[in-house]
Amino acid sequence: MSSAETETTTDVRDFYSDPAVIDDPRSYFDAMRSKCPVAKEPYLNSLMVTGYDEAMEVLTRKDGTFSSLTSVVGPKLPLPFQPEGDDISEQVEAHRSEFPWSAHLVCFDGEVHAKNRALMTSLLTYKRLKANEDYLYGLADRLIDGFIGNGRCNVVTDYAHATTTYAICDILGIPEEHRAELLQLIGPVPSQLDGDAAHKVGADPLIFLKERFDQYIAERLENPGDDLLSELTRLRYKDGSVPEPDLLSRLARFLYGAGQDTTSRLIARSILELAEDRELQQHMRAEPGRIPDLIEEVLRYDAPVKCAYRLALKTTEVAGVEVPAGTVVNIALSAASNDPEHFENPGKFDIDRPGNRDHLGFSKGVHGCLGAPLGRLETRVTLERILARTSDIRIDEEHHGPPGDRTYRFEPTYTFRSLADLYIEFDPA
Ligand code: HEM
Repeated sequence: MSSAETETTTDVRDFYSDPAVIDDPRSYFDAMRSKCPVAKEPYLNSLMVTGYDEAMEVLTRKDGTFSSLTSVVGPKLPLPFQPEGDDISEQVEAHRSEFPWSAHLVCFDGEVHAKNRALMTSLLTYKRLKANEDYLYGLADRLIDGFIGNGRCNVVTDYAHATTTYAICDILGIPEEHRAELLQLIGPVPSQLDGDAAHKVGADPLIFLKERFDQYIAERLENPGDDLLSELTRLRYKDGSVPEPDLLSRLARFLYGAGQDTTSRLIARSILELAEDRELQQHMRAEPGRIPDLIEEVLRYDAPVKCAYRLALKTTEVAGVEVPAGTVVNIALSAASNDPEHFENPGKFDIDRPGNRDHLGFSKGVHGCLGAPLGRLETRVTLERILARTSDIRIDEEHHGPPGDRTYRFEPTYTFRSLADLYIEFDPA
């Protein structure tokens, strides 16, 4: 990219509202990285970190310089106060509850985060998930039964949404008769581009699930079983104290909500790759044991979460660039996962890449994704079953155009990379 093109891409295009960036974040990230791995974008003045080492530096700093309070929404909303001086920690604490998503783990900081995160680490282990594998295989087959005879489907709406909702419902132990309604309630990813949307989210955007989840927790406290909701009610802090039911309900709601759209888009993006690359598809059919490597490469190459955000509480430096207290830092996870300083030939989709779990698709550091084992498992089970039940998967040209001139629609969000739909055709096996 020439320097004139770099300027055009990063100065003319607003990362947070330009639909062209939603369609093609890679060009924007490449242009931004070629200026400097840590650089200010000119629209909301967030500091964008596009280099791998620099992203790791921010994600793994444990000295209280950065807060996760802006983790979900980023710089779209102005801070609820005017930052003063080189340390805004006290101002932030005074206004904590005014930040969007502040009621949830992903926005907790320091001791409070560590204490509550420690509670959760035993919940979604591979061992625990093993017990749910049979259900997931059965679920995948049931959903595939619904469209296999048609020879075509929309992966997002006919499969991915339902599988991710039902999977987490089953693990949590949500009664079967509530699951279809919950699938309707969760809805599509909210737009982040209409200027107003960020204002609607509030401290607890999952409040619409509160009454229901409060009741699940109350029932489990009374009469525990062996599901994950019951497991939550048995958790104790390190000092032996008991988490409040309101907190358990929030943790449960976040577990319920956090992994659905993300996993659903990982599934869709993986199937897109298989349908576009027939050689790769044949390879995966012949060697399904390599499916996990394909999933890791999708997480590196074009992950469901593009960015995580931190708020600088203290004036600091990242890679020699000054970061004044009050700056929102955009850790462009997908840019970092495509940094040529860390990944050789990053624009090539390559399942044989060494160190294929180095990507930042699940972020890293103390807030790294707790549900990664589940996201990976649901995607692996899906790909195994969809490949086993079909003999050839193709992109539906009626919806996406011919090879070389494809159009894919992405949801209007700057945080997520979210295919709005994916139409495929296939021959049943
Ligand atoms: C492919 C699917 C998924 C992707 C790409 C993904 C991505 C992420 C990312 C990037 C973060 C870190 C945000 C940050 O650093 O600020 C995160 C955090 C988190 N994720 Fe996931 N996630 C996925 C699936 C899941 C699932 C299935 C669950 C739960 C069942 C889940 C639960 C969580 C939780 C609880 C956190 C907050 C951790 C903390 O703040 O300590 N995720 N996820």
